[in-house]
Amino acid sequence: MTVTIVGSQLGDEGKGALVDIWGGDADVVVRYQGGDNAGHTVVHDGTEYKLSLVPSGAIRGKTGVLGNGCVVNPRTLFSEIDDLRERGVDPDVRLARRAHVILPFHRVLDGIEEEVKSDSDLDAGTTGRGIGPTYEDKAGRRGVRVGDLLDPDVLRERLEYVVPQKRTLATEVYGLDLVDEHAEYAEAFDVEALFEEYSEIGRRLEREEMTVNAGEFLAEKRENGENLLFEGAQGTSIDIDHGIYPYVTSSNPTAGGACVGSGVGPSVIGRGEVVGVVKAYLSRVGTGPLPTELDGDEREEALADEIRERGGEFGTVTGRPRRIGWLDVPMLRHAARVNGFTGIGVNHVDVLAGLDEVKVGHAYELDGETTETMPTTTEEWARCEPVYREFEPWPEVDWNAVAEEGYDALPEAAREYLSYLSTEVGVPVYAVGIGPNREQTVVRENPFDLD
Ligand code: IMP
Repeated sequence: MTVTIVGSQLGDEGKGALVDIWGGDADVVVRYQGGDNAGHTVVHDGTEYKLSLVPSGAIRGKTGVLGNGCVVNPRTLFSEIDDLRERGVDPDVRLARRAHVILPFHRVLDGIEEEVKSDSDLDAGTTGRGIGPTYEDKAGRRGVRVGDLLDPDVLRERLEYVVPQKRTLATEVYGLDLVDEHAEYAEAFDVEALFEEYSEIGRRLEREEMTVNAGEFLAEKRENGENLLFEGAQGTSIDIDHGIYPYVTSSNPTAGGACVGSGVGPSVIGRGEVVGVVKAYLSRVGTGPLPTELDGDEREEALADEIRERGGEFGTVTGRPRRIGWLDVPMLRHAARVNGFTGIGVNHVDVLAGLDEVKVGHAYELDGETTETMPTTTEEWARCEPVYREFEPWPEVDWNAVAEEGYDALPEAAREYLSYLSTEVGVPVYAVGIGPNREQTVVRENPFDLD
């Protein structure tokens, strides 16, 4: 049985809580794209862990796999693993030998290119983790893969090809002064320094037996009857193919990415459950248009501030305050279609409690026409005027009591809101998040039981 959990919006929908809850029935938790741009906070036995690469399930004794579709910064991975070990947790993390490696120059280039792009408003507001430049090198067939770290000759060959190109790009095209002004970056573009550090990382990976042929490893697990949970990072609207290009990440968070990024075939993933995680409003860390953004006037800004504070809407990785908007339903219809959702989980329903008004963007007006889905170009999306639908606001209640009593204990207005969403995306609501803690979730279905 497989369950794939995907972000329906712009990332940060609170997928972690559901991965955590349903992950209890999984034996293996698989990441299939992205890298240390994703942040998740896990609370286990009263201790809080902030992670970006180690899958949350690995804290709870599951095997965590970083699939071939991921880009892995070994510095981040080992720093997270070492930190966990110091705190008495020894996570079982396996790394696909086909995954690509984020090298120090990728981070430097990420920063430089964002700065250059900002002159023409094309910067995506990246997390600066070198994600895009690493996927560029993967597509350009000049990347370094995890498997290459295990063979010093291959590693040297790859570095000798790619590093001088990157150094030239940095110094000649972008004018980076690696001698004086930015001497701190010199080692990031130095073959010998990189070879020394990354061949040592290869030795450590080998010593700790961390690398796998992900597709084969997962097939064996399935043959043994184990349950796999695929954990999408980021969200559908920042998918490189289906999102608001160019304000996107460089991978496929959508459910199709689970196949390509893990080596488990689409017929397997498709026989399982695909659950979309929805936040009851929108939040966005990056740049680009946001038609339902709450930024029109002082009143809207005050409302956004209130939601931001109550929802703790500050980036896990970067700490940046997130932009806030009303729920965008055309975005959800798009996500339901692209991912083939079988169910949704709706988070942060408590955050909207007690507000004077609750709205959703039901449709858009675009060039005089009404449309119920996202247009294909981001420029058209920017011109969309939301057609709002108002909902009866729901009151603050004792959410812990609701979590105990179940769905019917939710305020009626909140249930109406959820039932509207379910109708619009065409699938049932499996879970409702009503607070930051894992226990503050109303679970209606466990997708692992829906075989
Ligand atoms: P990158 O993934 O760092 O290249 O950033 C590209 C875009 O994706 C930027 O708009 C980021 O803010 C956004 N992004 C990347 N990771 C996350 C995430 O985990 N949550 C929300 N947005 C993200």
